[in-house]
Amino acid sequence: MNIITLTVNGNTIQKAVSDRTHLGDFLRDTVQLTGTHLGCEHGVCGACTVLLDGEPVRACITYAVACEGRSITTIEGYESDPVMSRLRAAFQAHHALQCGYCTPGMLATARDIILRLPQADEQRVRIELAGNLCRCTGYMGIVSAILAVLQDLREYPDAQVQLLRVAIAEGRAEPIDAPQLAHGFTSFEAKRQLGSPSESSEQPPVRPVIQSGVADTQGQEQQVQQKGTKVNASFDVPFGVDAVWAFMSDLKAVASCLPGAQIESETPEQVAGKIAIKFGPMAATFKGSATIERDAAQRVAVLKGAGQDSVSQSRATGDVRYQLEALSAANTRVAVELLYTLQGPLAQFSRSGLVQEFVRRMVADFGKNVSRRLASPDMLEAPQAEAINPVGVMFSILWQKIKSLFGVR
Ligand code: FES
Ligand code: FES
Repeated sequence: MNIITLTVNGNTIQKAVSDRTHLGDFLRDTVQLTGTHLGCEHGVCGACTVLLDGEPVRACITYAVACEGRSITTIEGYESDPVMSRLRAAFQAHHALQCGYCTPGMLATARDIILRLPQADEQRVRIELAGNLCRCTGYMGIVSAILAVLQDLREYPDAQVQLLRVAIAEGRAEPIDAPQLAHGFTSFEAKRQLGSPSESSEQPPVRPVIQSGVADTQGQEQQVQQKGTKVNASFDVPFGVDAVWAFMSDLKAVASCLPGAQIESETPEQVAGKIAIKFGPMAATFKGSATIERDAAQRVAVLKGAGQDSVSQSRATGDVRYQLEALSAANTRVAVELLYTLQGPLAQFSRSGLVQEFVRRMVADFGKNVSRRLASPDMLEAPQAEAINPVGVMFSILWQKIKSLFGVR
């Protein structure tokens, strides 16, 4: 046995420890700080990530004796940390945890990303998170939460966070001073809803988490809570802008052109129904409803839908914002921005570029259906055979990718 002296969450402690005890076991069993989770104990899953002298390390592959004289911060030690308070609120707002097993390590890594990479985009965040595994969330909410904090800090710089960033950039990653939390378990509390009256006294104000702005109809920046994957696409329709707008502002008409959609009930402002998707081995039928908001002056409309698949219990939301532009008297361009989220078992499929390409193809099919419906107004439904041919679409995407790899046009 060895007697080691180290600082944990700001308090100096002295404990006996064997040569082979790793830091994770030491924190959990000897210091009773069980917020540090152990998953693989091989340095792979990241659940045990803690700060050692201000830098993230895997507690499961760090010997406790090697921490003699050093400073450790565990998930229980971030109460006064300006980054972690933002991350906690963002994780809650973006549903970035389910079972919570990965969350202590995920938060430690997220904090590191916020401090080291102020300009990180989604791809960079995903790369940085590669060492932290989560088997519940599909990562959508986690990535959204981190991006939201990054964006918020870009728009509203925080002096305390800036000091931490400068320290890290200069190689002075500093331990967090939270001496009152050195011993015993302090839970990662379930926080109240954002905006509830009890929030203000508990933590620094966290502004609405924002990932991106969407220009509203006055051309101003409208703050939106974005959590999801955004896909932009456009299609051209061989009809004048007035005719296309008249069609595209009809909720039932628009919904009936969505590939795989079936309308079950409708009012002028809301339709209910289902939309079937299939990607690889996964198939789902999302049942739900959609509403539409229109701005005739700007020729902008937003279709907002949400639904749930009863088999997989996956949930999906999608905002389809489209804007019309007259290309000529007889031709109109429809620019479509789709922001979608998937939660539940299907969420794992929402990450790949292949899926985003698949969505672009769906938008293209949607455009074809719009053209057909405009050409044949009496057609009751969009042609379903073409709408629901995901396997064909998928092979088509793969074939295009293979061709581009070999330079075949
Ligand atoms: S428990 Fe340490 S990396 Fe998995
Ligand atoms: S929330 Fe369960 S493992 Fe990540």
